[in-house]
Formats: sequence, structure tokens, C-alpha cells
Amino acid sequence: MSNNPQRYLITAALPYANGPIHIGHLAGCHLPADIYARFRRMQNHEVLFICGTDEHGVPITLAARKENTTPQAVADKYHEIIDKALYKFGISFDNFSRTTSEVHRETATDFFLDLYNKNLFEEKTEEQFYDEDNKQFLADRYIMGTCPKCGNDRAYGDQCEKCGSTLNPRDLINPHSTISSKPLVMKATKHWYIPLDKYEGWLREWILVGHKDDWKTNVYGQCKSWIDGGLQPRAVTRDLDWGVPVPLPNAEGKVLYVWFDAPIGYISATKEITPDWKKFWCDEKTHLVHFLGKDNIVFHCIIFPTMLKMHGDYILPENVPANEFLNLEGDKISTSRNWAVWLHEYLEEFPEQQDVLRYVLAANAPETKDNDFTWKDFQDRCNSELVSVLGNFFNRTIVLSQKFCGSKIPKRHDDLATETEKNMWLEFNAIKKRMEESMSQYRLREALAEMMNAARLGNKYLTEQEPWKKAKDDVYVGENDFEQLQNKYRVENCLHHCLQLSANLAILMYPFMPFTAKKILLHFNISKRANELLKWENAGRMDLLSVGYPINNPVLLFRKIEDEEIQLQVEKLKVSKANYLAANAPAKVVEPIKPEITFDDFAKMDLRIGTIVEAEKVPKADKLMKLTVDLGFEKRTVVSGIALHYKPEEIIGQQVTLLCNLAPRKMKGIESQGMILMAEDADGKLKFMMPNSKTENGSGVS
Ligand code: 2FM
Ligand code: ZN
Repeated sequence: MSNNPQRYLITAALPYANGPIHIGHLAGCHLPADIYARFRRMQNHEVLFICGTDEHGVPITLAARKENTTPQAVADKYHEIIDKALYKFGISFDNFSRTTSEVHRETATDFFLDLYNKNLFEEKTEEQFYDEDNKQFLADRYIMGTCPKCGNDRAYGDQCEKCGSTLNPRDLINPHSTISSKPLVMKATKHWYIPLDKYEGWLREWILVGHKDDWKTNVYGQCKSWIDGGLQPRAVTRDLDWGVPVPLPNAEGKVLYVWFDAPIGYISATKEITPDWKKFWCDEKTHLVHFLGKDNIVFHCIIFPTMLKMHGDYILPENVPANEFLNLEGDKISTSRNWAVWLHEYLEEFPEQQDVLRYVLAANAPETKDNDFTWKDFQDRCNSELVSVLGNFFNRTIVLSQKFCGSKIPKRHDDLATETEKNMWLEFNAIKKRMEESMSQYRLREALAEMMNAARLGNKYLTEQEPWKKAKDDVYVGENDFEQLQNKYRVENCLHHCLQLSANLAILMYPFMPFTAKKILLHFNISKRANELLKWENAGRMDLLSVGYPINNPVLLFRKIEDEEIQLQVEKLKVSKANYLAANAPAKVVEPIKPEITFDDFAKMDLRIGTIVEAEKVPKADKLMKLTVDLGFEKRTVVSGIALHYKPEEIIGQQVTLLCNLAPRKMKGIESQGMILMAEDADGKLKFMMPNSKTENGSGVS
């Protein structure tokens, strides 16, 4: 047992249930939260690790509209997909709940009423955009107009996706409804606000003074800039038909703002799994830690804590170790552009390789700045770190033990031990200590790098000892051959240390790579006892494996990732980009109708049917073709700009409509005596305007 067991309530941001989950989610919060939760559990602390899907808010209603279904159906579908993907990646939640659960509705309702009854909200009636056709106030995302900053005429009420500006619907030029496409009117509506301004002094003291030294600089910096920028009251209700209804009379059509209800989801998820939930939420001794991405910092550091403070019964987060963003191949991860590595797809394409992604994302975690995930880096880290360092050490250890020790844990021979073994274990213990230090400061990358150093220790030791040389072809005879016996013992001693080190590595890696840690233990036939062995306090022990215990046949811990696999993934992303560009290509500009003409103007044109009887390309003119058109009563030479669209031999015999009283004009020295009528299709291809069946040459067209 830890000498000082503590209670931890660890949360990971609730992903919106409007789409599947990608590596950005995993790297941003679910993986670091899992690593931390596993670590604290291994230290025998009392841990509750909470998450779920965020199922309210406009994104879900937008997805429902797009998929032509209900918000609940969207939430049901994606809750399952997300839950499954995170579970398969070994994210060890104690409860993965949902904000459409009954317990959540009650909890959020009670929370709101508590603040309302204490008279802590400000009530304001303001004019907001209203869609008269659909009889509803519109959330910012449903409002579209022209961006005042860049002129993009498809900017949303909250953001222009072209120039990235954060907007207010009132900033938009020509705001209109995305549902009815009609202009909007302003209409008065009442909402409830948290008076953040009144809590500014308290927030300043709590964060800017109280957490100056223990919160990450990126988190602290963002909080400081919000607070220094001056806090404004913030509405916690919305006019929307999807969400937790505002539990007040005359509040029909109003729901709690999704960012009011979602963090309360952490409380409801706790309530759902333990009647003893208050000890986690209301006891100052609990360490409440929120893991999230940087876009959620303000909600978890300023708004939610203010709500908790206003309520008064709850503890505040001790730390909010938010990560920055993970980009993908140099570009921002984007669901709408399908620029992402989706977890459910990764699981299909790299089955059983969860720990490789866990490792790469943790080793390259955007802890202090935005980082980039590239498939090349994924391959390099797998092949040159996991395969070559960790896998190599373990595999050599098992293969040599099989060969020289009869697949059993050999004896340790302390009488033959040298400083090398002693130093190796001293260094191992120093690594363990440094990992503890890094983990407690949420520097998980650093801790992981230390774990790899422990594997390097093993490789170094094995390479220096060269047990394969000492074993001399695996032949031990003549018990009284002293030298040979000594060598046999040296081999046993060396492999004993390597095997004990392997089991120790399983402990250090468990928070990061739980599947691999268990795989290692399975080699030693440890399955039932695994959780007991995987305790942090056991790391550093040289007696984890009992002498004489059988070792299973070697199975590779990691396999090499091949170039073709990486190319396939890169290709897939290229296709995403191409599809997105094609779907979002600017609409073709429709030429405006030309000024009106009279019938007499039209009647002046003499249009006749003719047949092309000769055709040749005009030299030194890419586009031009010289044609001879037979009008029945005469033949005309016509120069036409169709050479990029047709070959001369293709069009001999083609009937055409010819404007034959157009004044002749010279092109490339050839006099053109008329003009052939052509139509241009959507791809820009020119098509002949001709009768739908063979018509006598010279016939008039009117
Ligand atoms: O940004 C998001 O994906 C939000 N759904 C996170 C919510 S976290 C919490 F407060 F519920
Ligand atoms: Zn813009």
C-alpha cells in the first residue's frame, strides 16, 4: 500500500457525440488522463476516472439535420462508436456516461435551480436573431452571413471558417438563417447569466495567485489573459429545443447552455456509479484533476469553477493539465475536412497495435506546444524505438533464456555479481524516482522517455555481458569443470537479471502501454496475479519472478511497420483532401443575361444548317481549326476555336448551325466566313448545336 493513500477524481473532457473520435481527442486528453489514472491506481490511491459523451448543444442538432434524423439518434449512434473506440484503446474509465442520462438531467436541473433559488443569476432580456419561418431563435451556428473581416459570404454567427475570426452574429453582413435561407428579424428573449464579473477578484486570487506555480504555463497564461481582459456575465441558457430544459415556469423552448450542463456531467457520472459520490465531490481531501484540450481551458478553469463556487457544496479542481493541439501532417485536424486519423479506422487497419499509437501519441504529446502527428514519425518511433529498443531487449532475453536456461527462470548467483548489476538496479531505481516526479507534474512525455531509458539499460547490460559467448554452444558437461560451471552460472545470473528487469519494465510501462505490459507478464505465465504485480511499489524488486518458473515461447512484442502501410495512410489523407477540395470548389460563376434585344435584332441573324466536309488544325494556333462547311448551295471557310476539344478526323460529316451573315474576319491570315454555334457544358467542353436528326444542308434555323 502507498504510505499515504489519497483520493483522486480524474476527468477527461466529454467528447461531443456528433461524430467519431480521432487521434486529436486521444492525444489531447483521453490518453494522458488514462496514463495518469493508471499510475495513481498503481500507487494504491483511490481513483475514480470519469468521462462520457457530451450529447447536447448545437453540433448534435446540426449533425441530426445533416443525417436526416433526430439528435437523440445521432447521440445514440456516436456514443456507442466513441465508447467502443476508447475502450479498445484501453482507456480505463470507471464510468463512461452520457449527458442525456436521467441522472444527468436531474443533476443539471438541480444545479441550475440551486443557483436560481439563491438568486445568483442575472436575468436579461435582449434582442436576438429570430427565424420567422421556423418560429425559433437561432443559435450562432445556424446564422450565416458575410464576414466583416474577409468578405467570405458563408461565415457563421460564431466564426468565419475562412479567416478564422471569432464572430458575433451581429457582426455579420446580411445575416440569414441557414435553415430557411431567409433574412432574420430581431426579437426579445430572456436568459439567465452567470455574473462572471462579480467573481473576477476571487478567480484572480484562486488562479493567478494560488496556482501560479503548479498549473502548466499554457493553462495559467490563458486564464490570465481571460481575467486580465475583463470578465463579462455569461448566458447559461439558450433558445433551443435540444438540451436540458430550463426548469422554470415560462421558459418553454429554452434549455441549459451545453457548456453549463456538460461539466456537470462529471458529477452525474460519479453519482451514477457510486452512492458515495459526495466523498469525491464534496471532500476537500479529494484531488480533482481535469484533463482536456486547450480549447476547453476557459470552461474548466473559469466558468465551471465559478459555477462550483456559486453552488458552494463542491470542491474545485486542483489542477487542469490541458494539452495544446495535435496537428496531422502539418495541418489542423478537421472533422469537416475529414483530415483526421479516426480511432475506429486505425483499429481496423492496425489490429492489435493499440499500444503503438498510445506510445507515439504519448511520446509526441502536445504538452507545451502544438505538435504534429505524421505517419512517417509513427513508423520511425515504432520501428526504431519500440521494435529496436524495447522489443529487442525483451525478445533477446526470452530467446536466450529458452536456449540456455531451458525456458525456466534461472537462478541468480550473487557470488558472481559485479558492480554492473548493482549499478544497473541503482539506475533503474533512479529512473523510477524521476518518473514519479515527472508524473506528479503531469510531464508524461518525460516519464515515458525515462521508461525507454530503463529498457536501454537492459540492452546495454545484455550487450556487455554477451551471455551467448559465455554459454559456448549450450554444452555443459563435466560438473567438475570449474571454469565451465562458472560460465554457466554467469549466463544464468545475467539472464536472471534480464528477466527480472523485463518484469520490472512491464510495471513502468503499464500506464502507457497496458497491453504490452500484460503481454510481457503472460510470457511469465502471470495472468491472475498480473494486477497484483503491476503495482508501482514493486518496481525495482529483483524477485518478481520465481526461480524455476516456466517461460513461454517468445512472441514479438511489436512488429515492424512497413513502408507500404504508411504509404496507404498517406494516400488516404490525400484522397480526403482531394474530396474536400472538389466538394468545396467555388461554384461556377453564371454569366449574367445580356441586355435585351428586339425581335428585329434577332431576325437579322441568318442561321443555317451545314455539314463539315473538311477540317484541319490552324498552324501555330492551339485552339483554332479551319473548317469547310457545305451549306448545300455553297461551301464556306470557317475558323473555329474548337481545336482543343475535337480532332479534325472526328468531325468530318458533323452537322452544325452556322451564323452565315456575320461579317467576315481574318484569323491567323485565314478569312472566316461565318461562325459555328457551340454550347459549353459544366466541364467546359464545347458541344455542337445541331438538329436532332439529319437535316438538309442550307435549311434555315429560327
Ligand atoms: O469541446 C468539446 O468536445 C466538449 N464537448 C468538451 C466538454 S468537456 C466537459 F465540460 F464536459
Ligand atoms: Zn472571414
